[in-house]
Amino acid sequence: MMRTHYCGHVNRELIGQTVTLCGWAHRRRDHGGVIFIDLRDREGMAQIVIDPDTQAAFTIAESVRNEFVLKVVCKVRARPDGTVNKNIPTGEVEMLASEIEILNPSLTPPFMLDDDTLTETVRLEHRYIDLRRPAMQENMKLRYRVSKVIRDYLDENGFIEVETPMLNRSTPEGARDYLVPSRVHHGEFFALPQSPQLFKQLLMVAGFDRYFQITKCFRDEDLRADRQPEFTQIDLETSFLEEDDIMNIVEEMIRQMLKTVQQVDLPAKFPRIPYAEAMSRYGSDKPDMRVTLEITELSDVMKDVDFKVFSGPANNDNGRVAAVRVPNGAEISRKEIDAYTDFVKIYGAKGLAYIKVNDVTQLNEEGLQSPIVKNIHATALRAIMERTGAQNGDIIFFGADTTKVVNEALGALRQKVGHDKGHLDGRAWAPLWVVDFPMFEQDEDSGRWNALHHPFTSPKDGHEALLETDPGACLSKAYDMVLNGWEVGGGSVRIHKQDVQANVFKALNISDEEAQEKFGFLLEALQYGAPPHGGLAFGLDRLVTLMAGAESIRDVIAFPKTQKAQCLMTHAPSAVDEKQLRELHIRVRQQNKAE
Ligand code: AMO
Ligand code: AMP
Repeated sequence: MMRTHYCGHVNRELIGQTVTLCGWAHRRRDHGGVIFIDLRDREGMAQIVIDPDTQAAFTIAESVRNEFVLKVVCKVRARPDGTVNKNIPTGEVEMLASEIEILNPSLTPPFMLDDDTLTETVRLEHRYIDLRRPAMQENMKLRYRVSKVIRDYLDENGFIEVETPMLNRSTPEGARDYLVPSRVHHGEFFALPQSPQLFKQLLMVAGFDRYFQITKCFRDEDLRADRQPEFTQIDLETSFLEEDDIMNIVEEMIRQMLKTVQQVDLPAKFPRIPYAEAMSRYGSDKPDMRVTLEITELSDVMKDVDFKVFSGPANNDNGRVAAVRVPNGAEISRKEIDAYTDFVKIYGAKGLAYIKVNDVTQLNEEGLQSPIVKNIHATALRAIMERTGAQNGDIIFFGADTTKVVNEALGALRQKVGHDKGHLDGRAWAPLWVVDFPMFEQDEDSGRWNALHHPFTSPKDGHEALLETDPGACLSKAYDMVLNGWEVGGGSVRIHKQDVQANVFKALNISDEEAQEKFGFLLEALQYGAPPHGGLAFGLDRLVTLMAGAESIRDVIAFPKTQKAQCLMTHAPSAVDEKQLRELHIRVRQQNKAE
């Protein structure tokens, strides 16, 4: 081995000893004849001192530049009192170099590692340098520790890891597939897995009882801070367990993970709320429960007000009028209200009506400062004040539109204002289960029903008949785990009976022939003694992002794609040789300007 110690491990106990360190020159400073080099490796930073008395080492040190790779033989000594750096573990000692060897020089790096004004583009173009930054090293170590703890937990609980194929047949799972052309089968394609869903169900039919896999999934969907085209799932499936059992097993996994890795104690039982309640009170199926603001229903009292913006949606079955009260919000300025109005417009809202409550006992334009109060009768105003629990000095924001728009706009507003104005309950971690999801959601344009989770999710006991009579009212055995407003995991108990699966396909308007063609293998397997089974998948990238306190999952993925699904370092995707295309029986169409 070239080194005797990692730079970051040299401490007081080694004072007087000679050590050999290897690493990168993080910084070099010349101090009146003495040269200091901060030598960096995976474990941290060590301060090397090069004295002009050691002539050979000094000459080499003079030529060292940032990011040169060095091997240094040096003697550990206490730092002079004045220079002790309490901020780093090696801050009490310094290393007096006797020999320096340049193992490899470096070009001038495209950026300084401690420059925190870098754009992501610059960082991603030279990701291998970006990953040298201590914060990124920590993120990757954290990611490894998290998956290790999870693997250990699942192993202790009788789960075995089974790999499932990456080259699959295309099955509709919500997002668009990444396709891989077959060379051998002219005109045919594999799809990369959006998740191992069907295979893990087949593993239950095969009798494995408890399966898990930490595996890549691929989805060609619009990207955001919490979405990548390829991401990692902690995927698991169990047999002969009910919803509660599965939720308890994975809840304990998350508790142990946060306890072991970050010494965080989560509650002994995560709260559970039905989907319908989450939408009504928080406007979202993944509410940030640290935010104390809530949404108040007002549709029933706005039916006969003299303000069409409110009475319209209030009288529409698909409409909603609702409010968010912000305690002490009357101090929110006109300018801020305009900014919040622009913010809700992102979610399709047409405006953001508000009332500043000056005097809750005066239900008129004097007591209530607002552009809309004159059009709302006293009964409705009284209901607003009572239901929201308004106090003098509050502001109340309103949403009136389709239920979907109101939920999305007020749900996002509640979280934004909550964080902006500090309406938080002080918890660092707010876990939540959202349960009782509907089986289906209706596509606004076509009126067709789509599976909310996926088409293999079981209806709730007693809801099977609704599949035919009232699909919109049919609830499922699906559950999502939410952490601080992020959906970190989701799963369900599956359908294990062929006839129920066929009814679900029918409700989804998937014909027998189509079902046979796409899922024939599953439908057949269900008839060969499929056990009751269910499971869940966590997004590993999201869990680690939350634990790292990072903004985007890109910060916890070594080589992520950009928002436009490209790798800026390797320039993937890229054009390929004509020969490769010919072998794959593929001809690229000329881009038509109109397309
Ligand atoms: P679902 O589609 O909810 O369920 O995915 C499970 C979890 O994976 C994470 N996730 C993502 N993370 C990053 N980028 C993405 N594009 C992305 N998409 C999803 C989320 C999500 O909660 N087969 C089912 C699971 C099951 O039923 O067992 C499934 O894939 O954290
Ligand atoms: P207007 O009648 O368009 O002048 O709007 C009066 C107030 O209602 C303004 O504060 C608007 O921002 C607000 N507003 C307009 N449409 C909506 C809506 N659909 N939901 C909530 N507030 C709205």
